[in-house]
Amino acid sequence: MTISIIVAVAENNVIGNNNDLIWHISEDLKRFKKLTSGHPIIMGRKTYESLPVKPLPGRRNIIVSTQKNVHFEGAVTVNSFSEALKQCDSDDEAFICGGATIYKHFLNHAQFLYLTKVHREFEGDTYFPAFDLNNWQLIEQSERKKDLNSNLEYTFLTYKLKDGK
Ligand SMILES: NC(=O)c1ccc[n+]([C@@H]2O[C@H](COP(=O)([O-])OP(=O)(O)OC[C@H]3O[C@@H](n4cnc5c(N)ncnc54)[C@H](OP(=O)(O)O)[C@@H]3O)[C@@H](O)[C@H]2O)c1
Repeated sequence: MTISIIVAVAENNVIGNNNDLIWHISEDLKRFKKLTSGHPIIMGRKTYESLPVKPLPGRRNIIVSTQKNVHFEGAVTVNSFSEALKQCDSDDEAFICGGATIYKHFLNHAQFLYLTKVHREFEGDTYFPAFDLNNWQLIEQSERKKDLNSNLEYTFLTYKLKDGK
């Protein structure tokens, strides 16, 4: 099974603040929906709780929590990363949707990285973990785009883990 990370990152690697996203870029949300629909999505309990619509429709929502008795209607809750992957045994691709701790773990296991680079620095309390970009090959890059509502500029980048890494 392919493990793919999907994330939107500011220039200073911020991904969130106060358990929420900082920006609203509708093209990015559309891209997220297009890529993840029909596939399981794995996320931490905090990210799940921050979603405006729960569960995200058309995808199996798998939530990682240390809490044994927590249950979210319409979603699957697991207590470890390995259990999360086991839930995706029969799928061809699973998407890792954050937050920081979940990204950190799966950066060592993913083959694809769907990254939206938001071309501005933001203040925030959650960061995408440091990783070695040399291990990744850029296989697709959009032109630099602009969200007309927020005036934010952004680029879609797709990386594939290099062979042997
Ligand atoms: N920009 C983006 O693309 C993007 C994407 C996703 C999220 N975000 C942002 O990221 C922030 C949330 O991220 P976060 O890092 O604070 O939280 P998170 O990763 O979403 O959730 C953390 C929770 O996951 C559970 N967990 C973590 N490691 C675990 C393990 N090894 N085993 C079992 N459970 C584990 C724990 O839940 P329990 O406490 O229940 O045990 C932990 O409190 C928000 O601001 C959100 O908006 C941004």
